[in-house]
Amino acid sequence: MDKKKLISEALIAQKKAYVPYSKFRVGAALLTEDDKIFTGCNIEIASYSPTLCAERTAIFKAVSEGYRNIKAIAVVGDSDFTYPCGVCRQVIREFGKDAIIIIANSEEDYREYRLDELLPFSFGPENLDEDKERRNV
Ligand code: THU
Repeated sequence: MDKKKLISEALIAQKKAYVPYSKFRVGAALLTEDDKIFTGCNIEIASYSPTLCAERTAIFKAVSEGYRNIKAIAVVGDSDFTYPCGVCRQVIREFGKDAIIIIANSEEDYREYRLDELLPFSFGPENLDEDKERRNV
C-alpha cells in the first residue's frame, strides 16, 4: 500500500474544502480493497448541521460508486495531526472494520492506527446479526 500517495491525494483534496464558517480545511483519501482511491473534503453549510466531514465525503463517494470495503484512509487537516471525529470513526467502522487510519501532517510526517484503536468496543453490522439470533427473529 502506497501511504505517501494516499496522503498526497488527501492534501490535494484538502485544497477543495468549502469552509466559509470554520475556515478549517480537511482532506481525506481512502483506498478500497480493489485499490481504487476516493477523495473528499469538508463541506460546510450556512445552517451548520448539514456540514459534512472530509472522511464521510470520501466514504459516501466510494459507497455510492459501489465500493464498500475500505482498506485505508488518510486524513489531513489544518491542526497538528487532525484525527477523525467520532461520527466519522463510526462510518469508517461500517465500511472498514480492519482499516488502517493514517493521520498526516505531510507525506513524511504521519501516524497510523487500526480502526479498533480509535474506536474500541465498537458496534457494527455484525452485532445486529448476532442480536437477531439471540432475539429469535
Ligand atoms: N472536520 C472534518 O472534516 N473531519 C474531521 O474529522 C474533523 C472535523 C471538519 C468539519 C468542519 O467543517 C470543520 O472540520 C470544523 O469542525
